[in-house]
Amino acid sequence: MVGDLAGFAAATFLRGVGLVQLPTTLTAQVDSALGGKTGINHPVAKNLIGAFYQPRMIIADVATLQSLPEREFREGLGEIIKYGAIMDEPMLTGLERALPAILRREPGQLQAIVSRSLSRKADVVQSDEHEGGRRKILNFGHTLGHALEVAAGYGSFLHGEAVAAGMAAAVRLSQMHAGLSEAEGRRLVRLIEAAGLPTAIPADLRAGDLLEALKLDKKRAGEGVEFVLIDRLGSAFTRRLDFDQVLAALHQT
Ligand SMILES: NC(=O)c1ccc[n+]([C@@H]2O[C@H](COP(=O)([O-])OP(=O)(O)OC[C@H]3O[C@@H](n4cnc5c(N)ncnc54)[C@H](O)[C@@H]3O)[C@@H](O)[C@H]2O)c1
Ligand SMILES: [Zn+2]
Repeated sequence: MVGDLAGFAAATFLRGVGLVQLPTTLTAQVDSALGGKTGINHPVAKNLIGAFYQPRMIIADVATLQSLPEREFREGLGEIIKYGAIMDEPMLTGLERALPAILRREPGQLQAIVSRSLSRKADVVQSDEHEGGRRKILNFGHTLGHALEVAAGYGSFLHGEAVAAGMAAAVRLSQMHAGLSEAEGRRLVRLIEAAGLPTAIPADLRAGDLLEALKLDKKRAGEGVEFVLIDRLGSAFTRRLDFDQVLAALHQT
């Protein structure tokens, strides 16, 4: 949160001053500090106000993660699992094996997942700084995740939790529309569960509220949205889905 706010302030103060990011949460170390997106949430939509602004340097020290509350630590695993799902299947195998040590926050394991995640994100961002094409795959789990954050009210779900539930729904949509196998889908959902993250959209959330939130998505295209799907683990692409198609995957498990 501090990185987003300070980044936005740095981008606008005097039309831009130098910025160094010092991320202290797992989410910030593996995701938000890198890539230049800075934004502030607005009651009607996530990150409605913001700027692209690259830091001059990022200092990610995994020692800070030792004091992070458990729930905040686990939510960071959502974005880490995302990188494996969209572009790095061997990373998922590594996560499956090392998860207990990661959850114990062994420094060597933390350093390994933070640097692997940052290099995956850097690969994508370097090729597409302003999200014209390939960078869109980083939104895997985020279309429904953001809608969930807004519909449930900011704070009910941490970002990584909402993304986790959004990824589980994206798995179902990928099975329906992209030929993702049952076995691969199940494998990803199991990993999300093992990380202690949600895999379902709460049944008491009204579809109408989610739809309203989906309609405000920056990736909206008419009565649909550009949605990130995976055809196998480690391979992602975007496809336009109608809102009806997206909502159809919501409350199935
Ligand atoms: N700009 C981007 O690309 C991007 C990407 C992902 C998420 N985000 C945004 O980031 C925000 C969430 O940020 P976050 O996940 O970094 O959490 P956060 O900044 O909300 O921090 C979570 C909690 O942990 C505390 N904390 C932080 N570091 C700590 C430490 N080392 N030890 C103990 N406590 C610590 C904070 O005070 C806070 O209470 C969301 O608004 C999300 O939308 C932005
Ligand atoms: Zn995210």
